[in-house]
Amino acid sequence: MDIKTQLDVIREELEKELASLTDIRQLEEVRQKVLGKKGTLTALLRSMGSLSPEERPIAGQMINKGREEIGQMIDARMADLKAKEREEKLRKDTIDVTEPRELPRVGVPHPTSLALEEVLSALTGLGFDVVEGPEVELDHYNFELLNLPKDHPARDAQDTFYVDDNIVLRTHTSPVQARTMLSRKPPIRIACPGRVFRADEVDATHSPVFHQIEGLVIDKDVTMGDLKGTLDTLFKKLYGDDIETRFRPSFFPFTEPSAEVDLTCITCRGKGCRMCKGTGWIEVLGCGMVNPKVLEMCGIDSNEYRGFAFGIGLERITMLRYGIKDMRLLYEGDERFLRQFR
Ligand code: PHE
Repeated sequence: MDIKTQLDVIREELEKELASLTDIRQLEEVRQKVLGKKGTLTALLRSMGSLSPEERPIAGQMINKGREEIGQMIDARMADLKAKEREEKLRKDTIDVTEPRELPRVGVPHPTSLALEEVLSALTGLGFDVVEGPEVELDHYNFELLNLPKDHPARDAQDTFYVDDNIVLRTHTSPVQARTMLSRKPPIRIACPGRVFRADEVDATHSPVFHQIEGLVIDKDVTMGDLKGTLDTLFKKLYGDDIETRFRPSFFPFTEPSAEVDLTCITCRGKGCRMCKGTGWIEVLGCGMVNPKVLEMCGIDSNEYRGFAFGIGLERITMLRYGIKDMRLLYEGDERFLRQFR
C-alpha cells in the first residue's frame, strides 16, 4: 500500500471512531491510537526509513499534512465534546426560579377535635367548666362511686379493660363526675371530655377507644326539665333551631330516672336518610337525674341538692356532623381523609 492510501485508511478509520465515541476519555484513547508512540500515524512516519532518498521528502510532506489534518479533526471533536459537556452541566445546575415550591406540609385539626371544640364551646357558653380526669382510673371512681359495686350485673355491659383488680381503663367519662363532686362544692356545672375504652369489636360504628363528653350539673332545684332544656338549647345552638331531642326511658345505676336521648338527624333534618336508617333520629347520649345514692357517696347532701348528668358519644356527633359513614376513618389517620378538614 502506498503512503497516500495508508493515510486515507487511517483518516477513514478515525472518522468512524470520532463519530461513534461519546466522551473525552474515549477521544483521548483514539488520539493515542493514531498519534501516540505506538500510533498508526507514528508507525507510518517510521516506515519512511525504508523509502529511497527521492521518495522521502514527498512522503514526509504528505504525512505531515495528514498529521495536521488528523490533529485538527481530533481537536475539533474535542471542542465539540467539551461544549456538550458544559451544556449538560449547565442544564443540570439550572434552577427554575418560576417553578412553584412544594408547600410545607401543615397538619390539620382532626374532625373529632373540630366537633369536640364545637360542643365544648357551646357548653362553656352555657356556663359549664371544662374538667378532665385520668384515662387509667381506679375501679372506685369508674364503678363503685357510681353505684356499680363489684358484683353488679351492669358491669358486664361495659366490657372493661382491667389493669388489675382495682384499676381499669375508664369505660366512660362518668368517673370525672365522682371526682368533681368529691373535690368541689355545689353548685357544680362541668363538662368532661375524654377518651374511654371498652373491649368492643371494631366495625363501622364501634371502636375499643372512643370519646365521650360528660355533663354534670348539681344545684338546689334542678329538675329533669332543666336537663331536657339544657340539651335542647345545646343542640339547637350547635346544629340549628329545627333540631330536637327525644327522651326514651333507660337505665344507668348512677342516674334515676335515666334516659337515652335521640337527636333529630342533622343530615336529613328528620326526613329519614342513610345516616339515621330512615328513622329521622340518631341516638347520641345517655342521661338522667343523678342518683341520690351517688350524691351521698360523693359527699353531697341529697336532701339539699339534686343534679343531672349526661354522657355524649363524640364519634356519633362527629360522624353526623360531617356525614362520615364509617367510624374507622376517624382512627386510621389516612391523610386523604384528614386533609378534607383543612
Ligand atoms: N356513662 C354512660 C355511658 O357511658 C352515659 C351516661 C352519662 C348516662 C351520664 C347517664 C349519665 O353509657
